[in-house]
Amino acid sequence: MNLLELKNVNKIYCQGESEVVALKDINLVVEKGEFTTIFGPSASGKTSLLNIISCLDKPSSGKFLFDGKELSGLGKKDLDLFRENNIGYISNDFDLIPYMTIYENVEYAARLVEKNNIKLKNKVMQILQYVELYDLKNKRPNELSSAQKKRAVIAVVMVKEPVLVLLDEPTINLDSKTADQIMEIIIKMNEDLGTTMIFSTRDLQMIDYAYKIVGIKNGKIGNNIEFESWMYYYGLRECLFFL
Ligand SMILES: Nc1ncnc2c1ncn2[C@@H]1O[C@H](COP(=O)(O)OP(=O)(O)O)[C@@H](O)[C@H]1O
Ligand SMILES: [Mg+2]
Repeated sequence: MNLLELKNVNKIYCQGESEVVALKDINLVVEKGEFTTIFGPSASGKTSLLNIISCLDKPSSGKFLFDGKELSGLGKKDLDLFRENNIGYISNDFDLIPYMTIYENVEYAARLVEKNNIKLKNKVMQILQYVELYDLKNKRPNELSSAQKKRAVIAVVMVKEPVLVLLDEPTINLDSKTADQIMEIIIKMNEDLGTTMIFSTRDLQMIDYAYKIVGIKNGKIGNNIEFESWMYYYGLRECLFFL
């Protein structure tokens, strides 16, 4: 079952007189429950693509379907509500609330979807255990390492049980050991909860975790011929899936 479909999507940013073409004729299908890796260098269009998929931004042309429905007709309020209920977006600048503890941060998010206090507490405790922050639940964000903070952000997003979770370069600025930890948590959540996940990376090491790779370069999703040269260039062993 398809969850997302992008058809001939283009994104052009206008900056005064000049235009930046960030996405060119993107065609992409993501099925429910899939774990998709968007792999490409800096400025290739990864964030632009995730912004469209998260409904934060609209394509300049082309269609974006979520669960078979085009959302471009929705007004801002309805679109915000739709996003709140369905999509978790772990962007690079996602911030925790600094004066709240980790527990309170997760609880604050969970309260949007769970009104029953006992269930709420259980949910928060469960997700904190999942991301291995249970023992640090009473710390504030500035007392955590960047990897721990990232795991707290994952808890804040996942506790709302979104249908789709987007992660924009979640392992950037992390050492490879903590990056591996983050990836293992994300993959476990995809497997255990069946959440559809899309994560972007420019880090070749993260390819090891890929199930389906969408290569992007200069705003275009690569074709197989282009990818063969990438495989050679990056020394990839194999490609499990490529569009
Ligand atoms: N808001 C914006 N205004 C103008 N140009 C932008 C904007 N956002 C991104 N771009 C440009 O679009 C291209 C793709 O950027 P981006 O999607 O951020 O790539 P990535 O996430 O892969 O680094 C880049 O050339 C970038 O400079
Ligand atoms: Mg980016």
